[in-house]
Amino acid sequence: MARILTGIQSSGKPHLGNILGAMKPAIDLSNDDKNDSFFFIADLHSLTTIKDPKVRIENTNAVAAAWLAFGFDTAKNTFYRQSRVPEVCELNWYLNCFAPYPMLANAHSFKDKSDRLADVNAGLFVYPVLMACDILLYDANIVPVGKDQRQHLEMTRDIANSFNHQYGDVFVLPDAQINEEVMTIPGIDGQKMSKSYGNTIDIFQTDKALRKNIMKIVSDSTPLEDPKDPANDITFSLFELLADDDQIAEMKSNYLGGNYGYGHAKQALYELIISKYSKERETYNHYIENPALLEEQLLIGEEKARKVAREVLDRVKSVLGFA
Ligand code: TYM
Repeated sequence: MARILTGIQSSGKPHLGNILGAMKPAIDLSNDDKNDSFFFIADLHSLTTIKDPKVRIENTNAVAAAWLAFGFDTAKNTFYRQSRVPEVCELNWYLNCFAPYPMLANAHSFKDKSDRLADVNAGLFVYPVLMACDILLYDANIVPVGKDQRQHLEMTRDIANSFNHQYGDVFVLPDAQINEEVMTIPGIDGQKMSKSYGNTIDIFQTDKALRKNIMKIVSDSTPLEDPKDPANDITFSLFELLADDDQIAEMKSNYLGGNYGYGHAKQALYELIISKYSKERETYNHYIENPALLEEQLLIGEEKARKVAREVLDRVKSVLGFA
């Protein structure tokens, strides 16, 4: 039995990058009976950037509803908000004391955020340690994530290794699982799709808002009548990730044939999302309109998660002489 664990921050609404890069691969793993999965909403991490509780709670519910809309089986597995297992904050202090300053100062995500954000707080700096705690607190074996989290997983292993070296086998060493095919989903401007770049596609928006969102995908200025290069177009790249082989072949010949504009391609992408995800969009909206149903499932998961967290934390406290 392998323990699969992953989390999504509630710093914004869940987007196509989160869904294809982390949620769907994680849910596929969770459907294997040999696995036991812990999926959560990293609402403590989102406090590094989102200070308004109302916005954070709305985002947290949106991420939770997305997990359920894509079919995460919460009866078989464990589903929770990070903040509702406060043991993670206690472990965070212990592991802060084992995280070398230069390692944290070299984190890509910290460098990127500290260059862009006005509020560069200590939470952003120790973000990777809290993430290590999320993983180590539950004895996770496999962590399905997008490529941007690779360095965080390496730091998690480094912290766990050096702790184990001093105190014996306290922590399980986790492995990242990164799906090569969907490693980095592009956003509407061609950079990595990210809440912090404001270039996301939220597939759960109303039809009208989704269409507007997709029509903003950046394209070059090749005239309508000329052939277009599918290999260098963001709309095509996104279409390719979602469509089946026949649909991809047809779209490729539209691009190469000429007299097919980027507007046509974006309309086709919009229609594909609406039809492909109609069930997921309906389930998501059902949960957003009935937050009590979400709460019910989360409370059950949080009780299960806390039990595991307490056992692991006891192991740590005992070797550190705090038991
Ligand atoms: P977050 O919320 O930024 O993203 C959640 C997951 O989605 C993946 N992802 C992408 N994958 C492909 N293409 C993209 N454009 C894209 N954008 C996001 C991310 O790689 C990630 O897997 N630190 C984490 C949250 C976290 C966590 C954890 C994850 C906290 N504790 C413990 C795993 C285990 C984060 O910010 O993810």
